[in-house]
Amino acid sequence: MSGIGRREFIGAGAALLAASGLAQEKKIQGFDEKDPGALADEAWTPFSDRKVRVGIAGEGVCAFGSAFGFQNHPNVEVVACTDLDPERCKLLQSRVKAKRTYPSCQEMIAKEKELDAVYIATDAPSHVELAIMALDHGLHVASAVPAILGREQLEFIPKLLEAVKRSGKVYQMNETTAFRPQCFEMRKLYEAGAFGELVYTEGEYWHYGPSTGGVGSYNGWRNGLPPQYYPTHSNGFYTCVTHKRFTEVTCMGKPSTQVRYLRSNRYDNNPFGTEIALFRTEEGGMARMAVCWDIPSDGGEIGRCWGQKAFYTKDRYAGPNELVKGVQRKKPNLPPGVPAGDHGGSHGYLMDDFIRAILLGKKPEVDVITALNTTVSGIYAHLSAVKGGETLKIPSFSL
Ligand SMILES: NC(=O)c1ccc[n+]([C@@H]2O[C@H](COP(=O)([O-])OP(=O)(O)OC[C@H]3O[C@@H](n4cnc5c(N)ncnc54)[C@H](O)[C@@H]3O)[C@@H](O)[C@H]2O)c1
Repeated sequence: MSGIGRREFIGAGAALLAASGLAQEKKIQGFDEKDPGALADEAWTPFSDRKVRVGIAGEGVCAFGSAFGFQNHPNVEVVACTDLDPERCKLLQSRVKAKRTYPSCQEMIAKEKELDAVYIATDAPSHVELAIMALDHGLHVASAVPAILGREQLEFIPKLLEAVKRSGKVYQMNETTAFRPQCFEMRKLYEAGAFGELVYTEGEYWHYGPSTGGVGSYNGWRNGLPPQYYPTHSNGFYTCVTHKRFTEVTCMGKPSTQVRYLRSNRYDNNPFGTEIALFRTEEGGMARMAVCWDIPSDGGEIGRCWGQKAFYTKDRYAGPNELVKGVQRKKPNLPPGVPAGDHGGSHGYLMDDFIRAILLGKKPEVDVITALNTTVSGIYAHLSAVKGGETLKIPSFSL
């Protein structure tokens, strides 16, 4: 939740919560990481006088519908919002100042006449089908992570790619890692050639949860979730830096002793609370990506890389100065009144990147190909862990 979002939450939101009986959720990791990193000296300059008309779906445990600041952007009009839960829908409306509400995302997509784009912040299993439906209705789509969830949804990949291609609309996955200060800087340096090819990358998503359950979820989609089915915060430290992909993976997991992984679950009774993957990268290098939920840790979404010419560890570049001369490594300023938001000050940047992609006809940093490269590789990692670490090939994607 952003600084501004949090104030609104405590004001209008708290009244609605109290009225609705919705319990205030406990603090969730990532929602107190507001530092956007060093910002460029140049002030924000307007880039269009048009407004994108956006519909927002989902205000669940993480209140992600309101957390990305669409309601604050000068080039956005929030025309509609929705949540299946009427109280959450009302709360979302109060936070994003939507003109109209709908009882479901499907109805909003089918019936709202003023929409240009939707932001899908519903539960993870619902993202891909809602995204395809919205694209088929000629709408631009920003989706919360992951793009698809688990092996059962692999069948949606060609349908999603086809929908993006046919519609010609923007599809973006809101991977927060992509606009964390470290990942942003690594990407700018990589693009400028300051690393050469990456030889080795590490990405980690540490998020310890209590034995009987972690963060809640709609219809319990987080219960027993295989860690590498949620791989985007770690894998993003390679895919969102290089815009390249992983070609194969071997992964290992240790059966958890936590109660939440000992129960039966919808993910083939997944027993793993921690999974460590070793990927071969498209550049011929290696990437070790960890998703760890059942072991105590400091928490965090962290990445490092070692290239042929330089490395990036401890949140800083170490390499020859001449390679970074003139490289703009700082995040730009956002429009006045748009908060950078949480998860390393990434929310506002993802939202702004989506709006720029629509209005300026540019590719978003996390387009459908990067989204799938970031997400699907994790699914194969989990499948490898289930097979005791067998090396599996990872498919490539194109439009
Ligand atoms: N750092 C990150 O990138 C990050 C952090 C937190 C959450 N997330 C993602 O954000 C999304 C939301 O997370 P959450 O914890 O709030 O989810 P949640 O499961 O608590 O809530 C989902 C909400 O979506 C609503 N919903 C489901 N289907 C709908 C439909 N068809 N129409 C309208 N509303 C619908 C539900 O009523 C519920 O309120 C998830 O996909 C999660 O993976 C990403």
